Amino acid sequence: MKQALEQIKLTAADALHKCGELKELDALRVKFLGKKGELTSILKQMGKLSAEERPVIGQLANKIREDIEGAISERMKEIKAEQLEKQLQAEKIDVTLPGAKFHLGKKHPLTAVLDEVKEIFLGMGFSVAEGPEVETDYYNFEALNLPKDHPARDTQDTFYINENILLRTQTSPVQIRVMEQQKPPIRVISPGRVYRADAVDATHSPLFHQIEGLVVDKNVTMADLKGTLEIFVKKLYGEDSVVRFRPHHFPFTEPSAELDVQCFACHGEGCRLCKGEGWIEILGCGMVHPKVLQNCGIDPEEYSGFAFGMGLERIVMRRYGIDDLRLFYENDMRFLNQF
Ligand code: DAH
Repeated sequence: MKQALEQIKLTAADALHKCGELKELDALRVKFLGKKGELTSILKQMGKLSAEERPVIGQLANKIREDIEGAISERMKEIKAEQLEKQLQAEKIDVTLPGAKFHLGKKHPLTAVLDEVKEIFLGMGFSVAEGPEVETDYYNFEALNLPKDHPARDTQDTFYINENILLRTQTSPVQIRVMEQQKPPIRVISPGRVYRADAVDATHSPLFHQIEGLVVDKNVTMADLKGTLEIFVKKLYGEDSVVRFRPHHFPFTEPSAELDVQCFACHGEGCRLCKGEGWIEILGCGMVHPKVLQNCGIDPEEYSGFAFGMGLERIVMRRYGIDDLRLFYENDMRFLNQF
């Protein structure tokens, strides 16, 4: 029996040595020490032993049980350590490797300049108003003093959805919407998309952007218009910019003017950029027509105002010397990356 016990100890030690996994280890524990295990089955035969032998074998059996238990927990520690080491190796991160490059997007030149324009006007106490791109004939034309048969309608080739609904051809209808909702003092700009049935070429697109401006208050004069727009141009194009106001006609303003900036390239001499003019037109403006104020329920005897409207694409083209409008919409990275 003693021999059998020693034999168990040896096979157990050998099996433990070969064992490499925790599950296997558990199976070995059951095999050697469990209720139906090898050690127990030997101890069950203790009854056959003599009274002198029994304590000796009993002691030996306990000793062997303890040894095997000790060896199992020892092996368990080793296996856990091995597994941890393996995992650490597998999950090792080389912190010195260069990171994956993250490409940060950039603002589209139209957005970048629009943000600048907004910033300039916000600084002068304006806020930003919005209006719908699908408009009614009333807001886009009628309320702006352009009745149905007015010849100026022909200059804005309109996308009509039906007789009364259209895609706005200008941001000016937002003036009407603002004045209907808000009583003076009013100081707003309104940037947005506008649509005209034009064929695409270097200077035309059926979709482009305008920025509208409107100021209404008591005692607003042409001097306020000139001062405000001159400051705007100097902030946008530089303090040394030279501007001039040239008489013009718009149905919704009286008097009306166009604002020209002296050509930056030739300083008024005339060159290719300004087509020999020396000046570049950048916006239309004027004193809000009394009829337009009236249409919005504002008394033209009490209040006056000025308005202006400019094409965003044009301003950006002048700003960066871009000669083809189509570049803005083609999403060519070689173009966009330059800004
Ligand atoms: N709406 C005009 C256009 O599209 C631009 C314009 C001119 C707007 C004069 C104005 C203005 O507010 O006062 O051509």
